[in-house]
Formats: sequence, C-alpha cells, structure tokens
Amino acid sequence: MSRNIQTIFQEFITKSTPVFKNRDALTSHFAPETIPHRNEQINTLASIVAPSLKGGRPSNIFIYGLTGTGKTLCAKYIGEELEKMSHQGTNLVKVLYINCKMKKVADTEYRLVAELIRLLGEDIPATGLPTETVYQTFFNIIDSREWVVIVILDEVDTLVEKMGDSFLYNFTRINQELKKAKVAIMGITNDLHFIDILDPRVKSSLSEEELLFPPYNALELQDILKHRAEIGFHNYILSEEVIPKCAALAAQEHGDARRALDLLRVAGEIVERNSEPKITEKHVDIAQDKIDYDRIVESVKSLPKQTKVVLWSTIQLVDQKREDIQTGDVYGIYENKCKETGLYPLTQRRISDLISELDMTGIINAKIVSLGRYGRTREIKLSVSQPAKEKIRDILDHDLVI
Ligand SMILES: Nc1ncnc2c1ncn2[C@@H]1O[C@H](COP(=O)(O)OP(=O)(O)O)[C@@H](O)[C@H]1O
Ligand SMILES: [Mg+2]
Repeated sequence: MSRNIQTIFQEFITKSTPVFKNRDALTSHFAPETIPHRNEQINTLASIVAPSLKGGRPSNIFIYGLTGTGKTLCAKYIGEELEKMSHQGTNLVKVLYINCKMKKVADTEYRLVAELIRLLGEDIPATGLPTETVYQTFFNIIDSREWVVIVILDEVDTLVEKMGDSFLYNFTRINQELKKAKVAIMGITNDLHFIDILDPRVKSSLSEEELLFPPYNALELQDILKHRAEIGFHNYILSEEVIPKCAALAAQEHGDARRALDLLRVAGEIVERNSEPKITEKHVDIAQDKIDYDRIVESVKSLPKQTKVVLWSTIQLVDQKREDIQTGDVYGIYENKCKETGLYPLTQRRISDLISELDMTGIINAKIVSLGRYGRTREIKLSVSQPAKEKIRDILDHDLVI
C-alpha cells in the first residue's frame, strides 16, 4: 500500500467520532414528523379548514405569535395533510403557501400574484404585463374549477409593509366575484401588533378566526429538542445537561424553538470543528455568544447609511473611553463624518430618533436620564462584546468610505 493511502486510512480511523447523524434535522427548515405541544392549535386549525373537503369555504384565519412558536410548521403541516386527504377523495382542495418575506416573490402585487399563478402550475412572464392582466389571469385560473383554494400568506406583515393593505383588501373580497371557486386566506405574523394597524375592513375579514401561538416554556422546548436530537445527533455525543440548558436559554428569550435548535446545532458544530468527544454545557455558552455575534453583525450590515454613521460616531466616542456619552456628543462627531463623506446631515432631533432605533436593535443602550431643570438627555453605551465591536467597526469603516 502506498504511504499516501495509508495516511488517509490512518487519519480516517483516528479521526474523532462524528457528531451529526443528520444535521438537517437540527435546522429550522426541517419538518419533523411529530409536533409536540401544539395539539390544540393543530386541532383548531384542522377544524377551521375541514369544511373545504366538502366544498365549503373555510373562514379566513389570522395566526399570530412570537417567532419560533411553530406557526409556519403547523400551518404547512395542516396544508399538506388537507391536500393529502383531498387527493384521496374529491380533490377539491388546493393549498398555496407563500412566505411574503422572500425577496422577488412578494415585493410587488405583480410578483405576488405571478407567484400564486406559478404555484397553480401555470406560467406568466416575470415582468412586463399590466398588473390588472396578471390579476385577471389569476382570477380565471382560480375560477376555472369548482374547488377551494387556501392561500397561506406567511409573514403577511412584511407584505403590508411593502405594498400597503390594498392587496389584502382586494383579496379578501375575491369571493364576491368568483362563480365556481372559493378562496380562503390564512395570514400569519410574528408581529403581535400587526392586526391593529390594518384598515378595520381588512382586519375584520382577515381575522374571521384568530389563533394565538403562545411561547413554549422550558419543558416544552426540551421535548421538542429531544425529538430533533434523536434524529440529528449520534447518541453518544450529547451530555445530559445540554438539552435542558438550550431549552432554558431559549425559554428566557420568549420561548423560541428556533433559537433552542440553533443553540443545539451550533454547539454541535463547535464540537465537530474542534474534534472534541462530547457536547457539553460549555459549548452551549460558546454557541450562544457566536449566535449573538453573528446576529448583531448581520443587523449592522443592513442598517441604513445614516444610522451607520450614527453608530460609527458612537463607537468613536467609546473608543476615546468617553464616559456618559450623550446625544449631543454623538451629533458633533456625526456632523463631521457627514461633511467628510459628503452625506447630507440630518437634524439632531432625527439623530435622537435613530439612536432610539439602535437602542431597540440591542446594539446600543440609550437610557434616558433626567438633568433636573435642564431637561432630559440620553446616556449612550454600546451593548455588544469587544470582539463584536471590533467587527462592527470594520464593517462600518468599509461601508462608510468616501
Ligand atoms: N412543536 C414543535 N415541535 C417540533 N419542532 C418545532 C415545534 N415548534 C417549532 N418547531 C421548530 O422550531 C423552528 C421554528 O418554528 P416555526 O414554525 O418556523 O416558527 P414560527 O413560524 O412561529 O416563527 C422550526 O425548525 C420548527 O421545526
Ligand atoms: Mg414563521
């Protein structure tokens, strides 16, 4: 045997034991076979959509709850089960799923309706037709049969953000024109206040039925993780304390199952990379830092330019070891940076708003303090780790060159 092959075999034998049996099972795209702790929601959804199997129009449903509470998973699951049942019988039901957050799918009414047409198996040019023609085509396809079409609009709040609520208004009224077909909408949002900003007419038709997905508690998250870990990991790799720890951390963060899964998967990835023998609590801590770091870095990249300058200015002050940084201090540096980069400077009032927005993202902390009879001001601090700060500064230096 040549030396080369020997080394390869030797390395393979001595290489540490593999961590993942099926890494996919630990990502958020994976559809698990069982969905623990959502029986009530699944049963309610099932009974709302069931009339479609006999040709009846189900009520429109509005589903809301914080991120990672299983809304997308359950809605898709119900949709698939419903179609399966319909295929066995009268073939009356069609479910169309759209995530409105997806770019190039739900940016404009044209794109959205074109996507629905595509999901119905027909083709339509990606651009170029009058929007009305696209609507008419959709309408004709739908009304060509006696069937019930259920349209799931996931993250429907982003749709309203992009194109207002006229689309929803038109869409919830489509049944008045249809002769053969019936349409029902299942709207889903992570934004608990979304429904309140809608036009009352849209609101009442979209939420003929409402369904809340409450956050999971730590024990429920443990069950969810156990199921996924059994499929995802080799059974010798997990120390006992890991799942309870991931569950506890995610429960503190509003009971988010996606967060819990991310912690578990990233902890596994760290162990895999370091060729360590077992996943322990320590790796969950490292995973937590890594996820926070990645999330902050990503959110900085997508900030508007003006906000980037404000953040850059704040970091300058922090780097000068300035204590009690106030809005006025940030504004001074901001104005200079604007001059330097040719950006039009906003008023101090607007900058104060941008500082509040940064506060909401969790990148900075801007506490309002009273100055007695001199009014109020903010005390601004960075609330990210040192390595995250360095990384953010690199990103901003790169993005804010003249
Ligand atoms: N009850 C559950 N059982 C198993 N996995 C779940 C459960 N709830 C959520 N998940 C998983 O958590 C992640 C987030 O769920 P998702 O349905 O996308 O949440 P939402 O749409 O509410 O933000 C997905 O990977 C999903 O598979
Ligand atoms: Mg979702």
